[in-house]
Amino acid sequence: MTDPAIIIAVDGPAASGKGTLARRMAEHFGLRHIDSGKLYRATAWRVLRDGGDPNDSRLATRAARNLVENDLEAPELVDEIVGQAASRVATIPAVRAALVERQRALAVQPPGTIMDGRDIGTVVFPQADHKLFVTASLDCRAGRRWRELRDRGEDEDFDSVRRNLAERDERDTSRALAPLVPASDAVVIDTTDLDVEGALAAAIATIGFRDGMPAKTSELTVRQKP
Ligand code: C5P
Repeated sequence: MTDPAIIIAVDGPAASGKGTLARRMAEHFGLRHIDSGKLYRATAWRVLRDGGDPNDSRLATRAARNLVENDLEAPELVDEIVGQAASRVATIPAVRAALVERQRALAVQPPGTIMDGRDIGTVVFPQADHKLFVTASLDCRAGRRWRELRDRGEDEDFDSVRRNLAERDERDTSRALAPLVPASDAVVIDTTDLDVEGALAAAIATIGFRDGMPAKTSELTVRQKP
């Protein structure tokens, strides 16, 4: 029998560094990385591209159920307007149901997956082997996002970037379904004063190992017995 897949959940607000951290951890451990935000962005982009309103639950649900691989590669997914629209489609229960099912199906292939998002440790994989909640101050996150946009040649002013992030935080933390909150058993990593290497070292330090790989929860439990 093959070993069941290792699942590591990495949640946190926009521009907290969770995506970079999840990708670097996946490279480090040879696990798959899945950015679940892309599914919400791709759903939102399909609605916007067809001239629809991201609050329209019928349109958004149809888009979520019919996503194809190509939708996940659209260059527009990184745009701020798509991020904002993603946080609107993300409040629609049928959209979440379709995307959560897809995330679960994608993640179970051995040796395992590191998935980043907002509700991975609380809803998608409450039984994940390791859970991190990555955060940083709003000013720090706004600065990172502003530099990213500037490097892509987009001329946004810092205050509007900061305002957009604050609005998205508010929508993500206050929605009724799967709000952004740390799982009770998540380890919180604040990246405000950490660079990527520092965040990676902090994350690796929180994880229990077996034979150089992140341990399954069951293995940790066994080892903790007297
Ligand atoms: O992570 P990213 O900024 O790409 O996510 C875009 C939006 O998608 C978030 O603001 C959030 O509303 C939604 N999302 C979510 N649950 C996830 C991942 C993203 O609700 N697991």
